[in-house]
Amino acid sequence: MFPIIAKEELGPSVFRLRVRAPLIAAKAQPGQFLIVVLDEKGERVPFTLSDWDAEGGTVDFVFLVVGPTTEKMARLQVGDTIAHCVGPLGRPSHVDTFGHVVCLVSGYGIAAMVPVLRALKGKDNQITTIVQAPDKKRLFGLEALKEWSDKVLVATSDNGNGKGPLASDQLRHLLAEHPNQPIHRVVAMCSLCLMWVVTELTRPLRIPTFLHMTPIMVDGTGMCGACRLQVEGTNRFACVHGPEFDGHKIGSWDVLLARRCSYADENVLQQSYSCRTCSQW
Ligand SMILES: Cc1cc2nc3c(=O)[nH]c(=O)nc-3n(C[C@H](O)[C@H](O)[C@H](O)COP(=O)(O)OP(=O)(O)OC[C@H]3O[C@@H](n4cnc5c(N)ncnc54)[C@H](O)[C@@H]3O)c2cc1C
Ligand code: FES
Repeated sequence: MFPIIAKEELGPSVFRLRVRAPLIAAKAQPGQFLIVVLDEKGERVPFTLSDWDAEGGTVDFVFLVVGPTTEKMARLQVGDTIAHCVGPLGRPSHVDTFGHVVCLVSGYGIAAMVPVLRALKGKDNQITTIVQAPDKKRLFGLEALKEWSDKVLVATSDNGNGKGPLASDQLRHLLAEHPNQPIHRVVAMCSLCLMWVVTELTRPLRIPTFLHMTPIMVDGTGMCGACRLQVEGTNRFACVHGPEFDGHKIGSWDVLLARRCSYADENVLQQSYSCRTCSQW
């Protein structure tokens, strides 16, 4: 059993949980995730680690309420327990001294990117973070983004006239200055369609672009094949080969989107997953 040590409501239908899980905390690295099973009849659902304390033996993750498991999880309180937590899973994000790194985040990526930003900052990168949210009410976690970024650009639609810049517009502006103000790497943890747009924007400029892919996962260990995606024409499993992938090597985006959207309902589209660049997410 994994006891809940702390719970915080960060915004409408957005929660942070801190869970005692010493073995996961001891090995966690930026970009990795855990799989949670709430109770004996629960589904296996993945969440990216947004923080951890190796000495204290705790891990944090932030989740959006989108369906049955996250609804149930939102009702849990400090002192309640989670039946199973497995992790850390996936490969850590690749972190090195790149130069100027532009990071794009939306939804839970706003919190889940923080360990990656912290690690990139630790390697002396200059970081510009573009954060997208449907409106200011649903823009959480700005302070942490500011702490680990040199500059934060906000893309929300409630800027007065109901039409704010899209995250992709903010990226376009930065790319227009490249290579005079060079961008050496782009990292995205946001909605699938925004990641696709980002990939196509940086492709002609050959700016290395790394995406945190989140296809449906079941076992999280490379056995079931649910999380497969095409990378350089080969099947790769996001749970063991990713979740971070070189966006320019990913193929069959239409298939990825179709698979993702086949499970999306109106409830999901209402969440900040929706990137506003298309009707899908
Ligand atoms: C590597 C990875 C990391 C993730 N990190 C986070 C995170 O930090 N915070 C967060 O809020 N969400 C995260 N997600 C998505 C999260 O797993 C889903 O929101 C959750 O499973 C929804 O479950 P549900 O029962 O509440 O909703 P459901 O009604 O079951 O699903 C709602 C939507 O969530 C997606 N989803 C459902 N089950 C899964 C699954 N097993 N794997 C992936 N996606 C699923 C589907 O696209 C579906 O449309 C991550 C997903 C992956 C693959
Ligand atoms: S979740 Fe089963 S192979 Fe990745």
